[in-house]
Amino acid sequence: MPTVHALAFAGSLRKESWNRKLLHLAIEGAREAGLEAREFDLSDVPLYNADVEALGFPPSVEALRRAVTEAAALIIATPEYNNSIPGVLKNAIDWASRPPNTLDGKVAAILGASPGNFGTVSAQHALRPVLVTLNVLTLPGPRVFIARAAQAFESDGALKDARAAEQVRALMRRLHDTTRALSLPSEPAPAG
Ligand SMILES: Cc1cc2nc3c(=O)[nH]c(=O)nc-3n(C[C@H](O)[C@H](O)[C@H](O)COP(=O)(O)O)c2cc1C
Repeated sequence: MPTVHALAFAGSLRKESWNRKLLHLAIEGAREAGLEAREFDLSDVPLYNADVEALGFPPSVEALRRAVTEAAALIIATPEYNNSIPGVLKNAIDWASRPPNTLDGKVAAILGASPGNFGTVSAQHALRPVLVTLNVLTLPGPRVFIARAAQAFESDGALKDARAAEQVRALMRRLHDTTRALSLPSEPAPAG
């Protein structure tokens, strides 16, 4: 069976980002589930500018687009900013979407952490239609909303709530199984 590659990124540039911690747990879970998962750091991706694009994708954007192209699956940990997704994440998606849309046909798992009580519910609901527009199949669940993030993690980065940790692993198993199923050659149609 060929390996399924997953690209993981967090929509936060903060060193102590809760979403980056969550992303690392998701990467661990993805590897346990059989995915070849690696993180892409969005720190070097410049703000989208059509004038810059007209001269050619900058090297960091080229690297992002290549990494997305090489992956079948995406793992996205999104913070919530003003009930939506942060500019850092939208900006990366916008660059990746420029023709040819490198996101086309990918399978995505999304998750998020915030210090508030709702754990990025609104941001995740805002992210889904953006991904649908780009022909990304976004897994409906299990949904991972880590609320009160400042209290949710152990000092080693593990989640204190065993049920939440299992949801992360379950989401990664679903990502593996769905991506693999979709990449299998389809059965020939029955004759007659
Ligand atoms: C501009 C801005 C808007 C924010 N809006 C929300 C919000 O709508 N809901 C929420 O739960 N947290 C909000 N927050 C708090 C973030 O969830 C918090 O900064 C979080 O730690 C960011 O994720 P990170 O830890 O991965 O960097 C906002 C933060 C900023 C800077």
